[in-house]
Amino acid sequence: MCGIVGYVGAKSAAPILIDGLARLEYRGYDSAGVAVLGSTSLRVHRDTGRVRDLEATLPKRFAGKLGIGHTRWATHGAPTPENAHPHVSMDGRVAVVHNGIIDNAAALRAALQADGVTFSSETDTEVLAHLIARVLAKGADGISGTDGDSGADGARHRPSTLEDAVLTALDQVEGTYGIAVASADHPDRIVVARNGSPIILGIGEREMHVASDAAALVRYTRQVVHLDDGELATVRADGYQTFTRHARTTKTAITVDWTADDYQADGHEHFMHKEIVEQPEAVHRCLRGRLDERFATAHLGGLNMDPREAREFRRVKILGCGSAYYAGQLGAQFIEEVARIPADAEPASEFRYRNPVIEKDTLYVAVSQSGETFDTLVAVQELKRKGGRVVGLVNVVGSSIARECDGGIYLHAGPEVAVASTKALTNMGVAFALLGIHLGRIRDLSPADGARLIAGLQRLPEQIEAVLKDEERLASIARRLSAAESLFYIGRTRGYPVAREGAQKLKEISYRHAEAYQTSELKHGPLALISPDVPTVAIVPDDDLVERNTGALHEIAARSGPLYVVTHPGVELGDVSAEPITVPKNETELDPIVLTIPLQLLAYHASRELGHDVDKPRNLAKSVTVE
Ligand code: F6R
Repeated sequence: MCGIVGYVGAKSAAPILIDGLARLEYRGYDSAGVAVLGSTSLRVHRDTGRVRDLEATLPKRFAGKLGIGHTRWATHGAPTPENAHPHVSMDGRVAVVHNGIIDNAAALRAALQADGVTFSSETDTEVLAHLIARVLAKGADGISGTDGDSGADGARHRPSTLEDAVLTALDQVEGTYGIAVASADHPDRIVVARNGSPIILGIGEREMHVASDAAALVRYTRQVVHLDDGELATVRADGYQTFTRHARTTKTAITVDWTADDYQADGHEHFMHKEIVEQPEAVHRCLRGRLDERFATAHLGGLNMDPREAREFRRVKILGCGSAYYAGQLGAQFIEEVARIPADAEPASEFRYRNPVIEKDTLYVAVSQSGETFDTLVAVQELKRKGGRVVGLVNVVGSSIARECDGGIYLHAGPEVAVASTKALTNMGVAFALLGIHLGRIRDLSPADGARLIAGLQRLPEQIEAVLKDEERLASIARRLSAAESLFYIGRTRGYPVAREGAQKLKEISYRHAEAYQTSELKHGPLALISPDVPTVAIVPDDDLVERNTGALHEIAARSGPLYVVTHPGVELGDVSAEPITVPKNETELDPIVLTIPLQLLAYHASRELGHDVDKPRNLAKSVTVE
């Protein structure tokens, strides 16, 4: 979604800001802009469209060694040049970039307008620029409806620093934000603040960077500091100081593992393709150092959970959104089957709006690639508030969800740039398997079964590799599938989340309607839709339900529905006319991980065939950091 960058140092800011914005493009955006502080004034350049267009139209004299920039995903107001960030105060001396949503923007706007402020955009963000500028110009009583900070004698305190002005302005604001503020009157600093939307500081050599996503920073520095909610920072070329409304805070910098090279497409036509092909290596990384063949278990030190505590759990509840939720469904089935603990998954976006009973003996698991999905983050915060024990399965180290959880398992998939998630999803499946084995081995799982599953996990990379070798044939099937307006993806028990994920992938990047259904439920309604124009992709693993599944295939074939069957060697489809897509067989519990891989390639090639922007599908952003 929206992205923030900032720079202060000895170099020219504009090229660094533009480069940072380009690295945030993958998150999805519709407009972009930069503000640079020249010798005495702020200059702003912003427009709709791509970052390279912004760069091409950048005015010649755009010099300055401090600046802020933004990529915008429209929420308040259409994507227009006026609504693009940075937003500037009426006197042109304060510029603000903002991620998040200000809930009381309408009321603040009305109060400011009544006070003579003219707005030049429809955004919620613009109120911040005016509020900060007014406090700087007039003191805390410059804001309508502000009580200000009355001293004992009732005299009003006049804020003199940019930090005071930002704090006073933020006191007026309800909602979520990550902001970066530059002021022509404070030319040595950027002030940033975080409440529900990430802000990261990048520590350079006599220079500092600011970003909402480490992707914008790693080319310049890998030493970063994550702000917490309620925290602000003053960022100057020679360092930074973090603080809250009440006190200074102390932070420890962490080193980001990912490098700028990890964000390159490496000769692949699309990031999605690169990320699909990388999966064997990504799975290796997720397993590395975690398998214990001697005791047939998985070592997961990051969970911060002693075995006594882990034995007490009577239930596992998994929360995630979109594809991460489908991975959670897979995980719940694995954990229930292997660790014999009742487990289920629920979309975090639903969970947070109910008033769920939070049980002490339930292990809550939040699953997220980005670690920034707002719905999942809020669900975790709600759980923590009510005393729930939450662990995270997260890809991005140091992300909001990772830091909010009591412990967790990092996915180690490497950066995922394509909007459609692939390798992170696969590693979610692997991480759930590790968790299931870990919990199982301190409960009922036998050493033999533990060893069997560990051997299965070790076979995954080569099995995924084998599926990838079938890409050409999968591409030709995808071309046929892409001609259909509407498709079914069906699967039963373990195969159902696989079908859901396959349908989701096709929908989001090919814009074809794909509906996932439980194979068992087909005859209770949707069979009416089967026709020669509606193909079905059926997940038919070699398991104890194979006969039931092939029975359903007969019903589809009898209605002339074209069939593509993702299955294992040796599964007999009888006289059903179907195109088989065969993948290597693993242990039954682990099969869903491999069965998902051909569905990624089907979606990828269908999208390519239809000429869509595979990596940046319409209306979607890589991480959904708003309500
Ligand atoms: C689908 C997809 C989304 C995400 C969802 C959660 O390909 O990428 O459905 O899975 O938005 O995102 P994370 O995992 O970052 O919480």
